[in-house]
Amino acid sequence: MLFQSFPFSNGKTAKNRFFKSAMEEQLAHQNQPTMSLVQLYDTWAKGGAGILVTGNVMVAENGKGSINDVVLTDERSLPTLQQWAKAGTQNDTLLIMQINHAGKQSPKVLSPTPVAPSEVALQGMDGFINPPRALTEVEIDTLIQQFATTAKIAEKSGFSGVQIHAAHGYLISQFLSPHHNRRQDKWGGCLENRMRFLVDIYHAIRAVVQPDFLVGLKLNSADFQKGGFDETDSLQVVQKMAELGIDFIEISGGNYENPEMLSVKDSTRKREAFFLDYAEKARAICPVPLIITGGFRSESAMNEALQSGHLDFIGIARPFALQPDLPNKIKNQSYQTCLTPRIKTGVTMLDRKLGAVLEMDWYMAQMALIGQGKQPNLKLSPWKVLFKTLWENGKAGLSTGRA
Ligand SMILES: Cc1cc2nc3c(=O)[nH]c(=O)nc-3n(C[C@H](O)[C@H](O)[C@H](O)COP(=O)(O)O)c2cc1C
Repeated sequence: MLFQSFPFSNGKTAKNRFFKSAMEEQLAHQNQPTMSLVQLYDTWAKGGAGILVTGNVMVAENGKGSINDVVLTDERSLPTLQQWAKAGTQNDTLLIMQINHAGKQSPKVLSPTPVAPSEVALQGMDGFINPPRALTEVEIDTLIQQFATTAKIAEKSGFSGVQIHAAHGYLISQFLSPHHNRRQDKWGGCLENRMRFLVDIYHAIRAVVQPDFLVGLKLNSADFQKGGFDETDSLQVVQKMAELGIDFIEISGGNYENPEMLSVKDSTRKREAFFLDYAEKARAICPVPLIITGGFRSESAMNEALQSGHLDFIGIARPFALQPDLPNKIKNQSYQTCLTPRIKTGVTMLDRKLGAVLEMDWYMAQMALIGQGKQPNLKLSPWKVLFKTLWENGKAGLSTGRA
């Protein structure tokens, strides 16, 4: 099944069921795309995945999650974007740009006062992230148009589609959450209001792109937070977005406060396929193309998940940073299960505090190697990565985690 093609209703076809999920590459220079990104996607496209999703590309200057994010607000980098799109769509690959705004999950060196639906501070981020201020309604309208502008530039550059990032605690996910969104106007309160920001972004994008341009979504199954966005809310968002005609929905979970998407718990890791139960429920309510991401490592788990009929694509992130040609390897039967190591310094206090941050920085370092035309390095020292991150962020004043 993994190598069966998948026809989207808008006419585009994925050649197989491997969906390389978004991983923030941190390979921009002055927030513009670089040749390292071109090289990285050239390698991935040659590696055989049906769909490649880029790391999050930010739609506004005040929406950065990290220092070296790509920010796409105008066409100044069109030639590099076109090279990026050409590299990532070779070999019949669909290349999707993930578009995002970090909202309050923006470190304080980048956003001294980050924006959010409401003035609710993140827990446990003191020193890294400042409390946010609430967006005005005029600013909300501007942001919706900024998502559409970025999508239009992606289309013009030759990308196959965009994925709206509504997961992992970023701005759209903040709007969806009753914990983070305490607004009393039409953007807060009942789910219909909390969803309005996402729905309006979707309509604004559709209004400016061609019908065969894919528009997908990444959504949390839940935030795993008391009083937050839960599974009941999430399934209703799936249903609504499916009714509106979204081309695909990728399911993940968690945010900076609860990084479930990386599943730091060993028990969850062992089970593979973190969000399979949710997919079964989503499939029961609507036929939208579904992807679940998180934990897939063995070929048998990927096959079993597809055979369950609850999903259409296998979302995979970290293994692609270690084995960029994972689909080709499975095809020619040379794949050994990709064991993604727990990244630890060995200093308990540091590992507890940095957890997901260190893990992500280590995988970013692997992508940087591929972007230089080198092989990933499983022996790469977490300490080396940590020092590099601290050095680079130190110039700007801090280090932070993101996903
Ligand atoms: C280095 C790194 C960067 C990530 N950046 C993003 C991102 O930009 N957008 C996103 O939706 N998820 C991001 N994620 C989360 C992954 O897409 C995925 O949900 C998560 O890693 C679980 O999948 P896996 O077990 O296959 O790695 C990132 C993960 C890692 C390790």
